[in-house]
Amino acid sequence: MSAAPLSVAVIGAGMAGRTHANAWRQAGTVYELGLPPVRLATIADAHLPFAEDAAAHYGYEKAVGDWREVAEDPSIDVVSIVVGNALHREIAEAMADAGKHVLCEKPLAGTLEDAAAMAALQEAHPELVLATGYTFRRNAGIAMLAKLAAEGDLGTPSHLDAHYWADYGADPNTPIAWRYKGPMGSGALGDVGSHMVDSAELVMGPIAEVSGAQLVTTITERPVMTGAVSGGRGVTADADAPREAVENDDVATFTARFASGAAGTFSCSRVAFGLPNDKTLTVLGTGGSARWELHRGGEIQLADASSPAGRGGLRQVLVNPEFPYYANGSSMAFAGVGLTQVEQFTYQAHAFLQQVAGITEGALPPCASFADGYRQMRILAAVAESAARHGAAVAID
Ligand SMILES: NC(=O)c1ccc[n+]([C@@H]2O[C@H](COP(=O)([O-])OP(=O)(O)OC[C@H]3O[C@@H](n4cnc5c(N)ncnc54)[C@H](O)[C@@H]3O)[C@@H](O)[C@H]2O)c1
Repeated sequence: MSAAPLSVAVIGAGMAGRTHANAWRQAGTVYELGLPPVRLATIADAHLPFAEDAAAHYGYEKAVGDWREVAEDPSIDVVSIVVGNALHREIAEAMADAGKHVLCEKPLAGTLEDAAAMAALQEAHPELVLATGYTFRRNAGIAMLAKLAAEGDLGTPSHLDAHYWADYGADPNTPIAWRYKGPMGSGALGDVGSHMVDSAELVMGPIAEVSGAQLVTTITERPVMTGAVSGGRGVTADADAPREAVENDDVATFTARFASGAAGTFSCSRVAFGLPNDKTLTVLGTGGSARWELHRGGEIQLADASSPAGRGGLRQVLVNPEFPYYANGSSMAFAGVGLTQVEQFTYQAHAFLQQVAGITEGALPPCASFADGYRQMRILAAVAESAARHGAAVAID
């Protein structure tokens, strides 16, 4: 392992870009020492004031208004791509061609075709780490559900129920932005649904088939706002502003069959009034049941063989150092301290840097690859196909 610093750049200084910027800064503070030092080099955003503000907040050397400056900078080793999905492919290709390791946000691309091209990049650049940002793979509670299911603590898992309901689009005056553009299936399904499906596979193994899908667009047009819009949350346009058509789904529901034979039921929404960030996974098995909820991130709920007879029901189990990721993942790693979504990004950044540095001893599980991101997009496309074919079953290859 080289002790030379790894120089990092973040492209996109919106909601998630700032979280990446923070994660690279924190990555070396968790788990064992041994990562090479990280140089916080550049933040790029098409709206330069966003880049400047993020660079100032998170201690990066430079802010630029054009991501091409990052591609052309020979000192940069590692790049986070954290912009709207339709931009991922062009930027990822340029970064890989410039010899940079890439951590690209989910969903991998704006279209299935773009995702296929991005997956092909790994073959052309075997020396690079090209990863998709499925941050919930680093959530201690979800990882615990996966461990319980895999180790037989829940008997045979027969059913997973998952939802990811958000309200960022519930207000019809929330302005049109990149999230509302693209093919059916790239809306709520591609945005929050992609996390939901990835977490489901982490717990239950691969999905073999989806069926019964419905995609619904409830708010069919939104106001156009001039100027830069980041995140979209809490931003409201005037009611008389001009409007543009929403192209993709506000709500998606479907069922699935896992390769194990277990059933899956899923729903996601971006127009769920009053529910800002409600992601929940429940696994029902022949010998136990377990549930994880994002807004109760410091715990799981569990009923298993250790539940006393006559006192059934889910009981609270606090995240503690026996959970995956938690020991050494926090400077206060004991039960009751809790965990947030932000730490997932730090753990992900740590794992990514381990991969880049070639650290295998004590390594965290590797990040999802571009091929994993492409497979995810095939599942989302199958859901969209099922909806277009009135709920027909669509197999996942
Ligand atoms: N892993 C997660 O938990 C998570 C959470 C939120 C978003 N995301 C993903 O992160 C990505 C960005 O989402 P967001 O919510 O941060 O979006 P956002 O709209 O808040 O921010 C996007 C930023 O990109 C900038 N931008 C637009 N065009 C650009 C260009 N050509 N070059 C450079 N910058 C440009 C915008 O000015 C804006 O600041 C998406 O792929 C999204 O799916 C992931």
